[in-house]
Amino acid sequence: MIEDREPIRVALLGCGTVGTEVLRLLQGRPEEFAARTGAPVQVTGVAVRRPHKHPNVPEHLLTTDAAALVDGDVDVVVELIGGIEPARSLLLRALRGGKSVVTGNKALLAEHGSELYSAADEAGVDIYFEAAVAGAIPLLRPLRESLAGDRINRVMGIVNGTTNYILSAMDSTGASYSETLDEAGRLGYAEADPTADVDGFDAAAKATILAALAFHTRVAATDVYREGISAVRPGDIAAAKSLDRTVKLLAICERVVAEDGTESVSARVHPAMIPRDHPLASVGGAFNAVFVEAEAAGSLMFYGQGAGGAPSASAVLGDLVAVARNLVVAGKGPRESAHAKLPVQPMGATPTRYHISLDVDDKPGVLSQVAATFNDNDVSISVVRQAGRGEEASLVVVTHTATDAALKSTVDKIAQLASVREVVSVMRVEGESS
Ligand code: HSE
Repeated sequence: MIEDREPIRVALLGCGTVGTEVLRLLQGRPEEFAARTGAPVQVTGVAVRRPHKHPNVPEHLLTTDAAALVDGDVDVVVELIGGIEPARSLLLRALRGGKSVVTGNKALLAEHGSELYSAADEAGVDIYFEAAVAGAIPLLRPLRESLAGDRINRVMGIVNGTTNYILSAMDSTGASYSETLDEAGRLGYAEADPTADVDGFDAAAKATILAALAFHTRVAATDVYREGISAVRPGDIAAAKSLDRTVKLLAICERVVAEDGTESVSARVHPAMIPRDHPLASVGGAFNAVFVEAEAAGSLMFYGQGAGGAPSASAVLGDLVAVARNLVVAGKGPRESAHAKLPVQPMGATPTRYHISLDVDDKPGVLSQVAATFNDNDVSISVVRQAGRGEEASLVVVTHTATDAALKSTVDKIAQLASVREVVSVMRVEGESS
C-alpha cells in the first residue's frame, strides 16, 4: 500500500507567489501525489523570513531557520527564494547532505550551475529546475530528456513576458518605450524595478541555461551577449511594420558551423525583427514561446505562460513528482551533460543580418556611396528600398548574413557619410533564410 510507505519529506525554502501555490496544490491533492510518485509526499517545513506574513501556512511548518530545515529530516529541498545568496549556500548544503533539489532560480543556475550540478553528482542526488525557464512551459525536460537522442541546432524564443508585453503594446499602439513601460507598471505587467527584465538580464540567464542543455556545453552567464529593449524606438517598430515584420526580444542559442566544419555555440539576447508569419510573431502580451530546431525532429514550438504563481508552481510540482519517483525506485534523473565542450563565440564573430533604415539626401550618387560602404566591409545586400521625399529620401537596406562585427562597422561608416542625414533604425533580423 502506498500509504504505508515512508513519506517523501519536502522542505520548502521561500513562500512567495510561487511557493504559496506549490503548497496549496500539494496539500490540496495529497492522494494524487502519492499515487503518482508511489509514496506520500509530506511537507516538513517552510522557511520564510517573516512568519507573520504567511497566515495561510500551518504555523507548525513555519521556520526562519532555513539551514536547520535543510539539515533536518528531509529528502527534497524546494528552493523558491530567488537570487544568489542565501539560495546558493542552502542548496549546496542540501546537495552535500544527500538531499535532492528542485529550484526555479535561473539567476543562480546561470551563475553557479556547474557548482550545483557537480555537488548533485558527487552526492548522487537529483537537481531539477523546469521552472527556471519559461514558467509553466515544459521546455527543459524536453531538451534534457525527450530530445536527448537528437541534435539541436537552434533554440530561439521569447522568454521574458514583461518585455514581450511592452513590445507587443508598442507594436499595436505606436507609443514610445517609456510610455509603454509606465503603462505596463500601472497594469502590474512590469515590476517596480524592471531592470532585470527590460535590460535583458532575466532573458540572458535563461539563455545560459538553454544553451547549456541544447548543446551539451557549459555556458557561463558572461558568455551570453545581452541587449535590452530600452533603445527600441517607435521608428524601429514602424520600420519593421513597413516590411511586414515585428520586433521581439529574443533569446537565441545556436550551433554555428564554420566552413572548415568546426562548431561553436552562439548565445545572445537582443531585440530583433522577425517576419509577421513566423510562429513567434503571433506570441503577444506576457506569453512566452520557444522555437526549437533539431536535426531529426525538425521544428518544435513550445508556448504558454512564462511566469505567475500557479503556472510556475505547475513546473515545480512536475519536478517534485519526478524527484520523488526517483527516490521511490532508488534511481536518479539526468546528470549535467557537458561532454561536447563547444567554444562559445563572441558576438562580433556571430553571423547575423541587419535591417538598416536611413534618411539620406535625395541626389545622384547617394545610393552608390551607401552600397560601396557595404561592399568595402564585405557585407552583401539582400533588399534595398528607396522612397524620395523632396530633398530627402528614406533608404531601407536589409543585408545577407555577415559577422556582427562587420555589420556594426558598416553602420558606423554609413553614419559618417555626409549624404546620410540620420540613421533612423538599426536592428538585427531573425527567423528567415539568409
Ligand atoms: N520577470 C519574468 C518575465 C518572469 O517578465 O517574464 C520571471 O522570469
